[in-house]
Amino acid sequence: MKPLRIALTKGRLEEKTVAMLESIGYDCSQIRNKGRKLVLCIPEKNIEVVLAKSADVITYVENGVCDLGIVGKDTIMEMGKSFYEVLDLGFGRCRFALAVPKGTNFYEGYHSRTIATKYPNVARSYFESKMDIEVVKIEGSVELAPILGLADAIVDIVETGTTLKENGLEIAEEIAQVSARVIVNIASLKLRKKEIENLIDDMRRAIKEN
Ligand code: PRP
Repeated sequence: MKPLRIALTKGRLEEKTVAMLESIGYDCSQIRNKGRKLVLCIPEKNIEVVLAKSADVITYVENGVCDLGIVGKDTIMEMGKSFYEVLDLGFGRCRFALAVPKGTNFYEGYHSRTIATKYPNVARSYFESKMDIEVVKIEGSVELAPILGLADAIVDIVETGTTLKENGLEIAEEIAQVSARVIVNIASLKLRKKEIENLIDDMRRAIKEN
């Protein structure tokens, strides 16, 4: 039987997922000692882990080249979904927020407003019923845009709030709670139901015990 393939978001979620799986006895030594390798095995479980950027996790799962994915709800909200979202892992917790330069009122005045964000769809849908806005897509360190005068505000994920604070910004509105989710390819859930359900049950047990 070919391995069950999981696309795992590199970085913060990778660390936490490995810790979760190890807590219930999965051998993640290949992931821990991966070097530059991107495809790793969890021996004895017939699982292959693929390390990818968050948006690519969704692409691989939607296209069926990975059976499951572990990815933040922020990326799911941005990219839409044609897959099943089956479990909230509870870690990787942060918030989507509208943030403005400290002391400013986003809604004051009649000028048109520009929002800088890595998440244009989330920003547009949040403001859809409220007001017209311009959205500028920024790839990273989005806090720079209001500092440089390119935007009135940002829509971004906030974890500790340190980045906002150290760059003279503050939360104006909270948009949504975000955490790591397990997603499953629609066909895989039918074709490999038992294996996937067993894995999800194990993950559920791990988050309950921790
Ligand atoms: C994210 C986010 C904020 C920061 C928030 O950026 O876009 O910049 O983390 O974290 P904090 O509230 O704990 O300070 P990330 O580190 O992913 O880097 P990027 O901005 O280059 O995408």
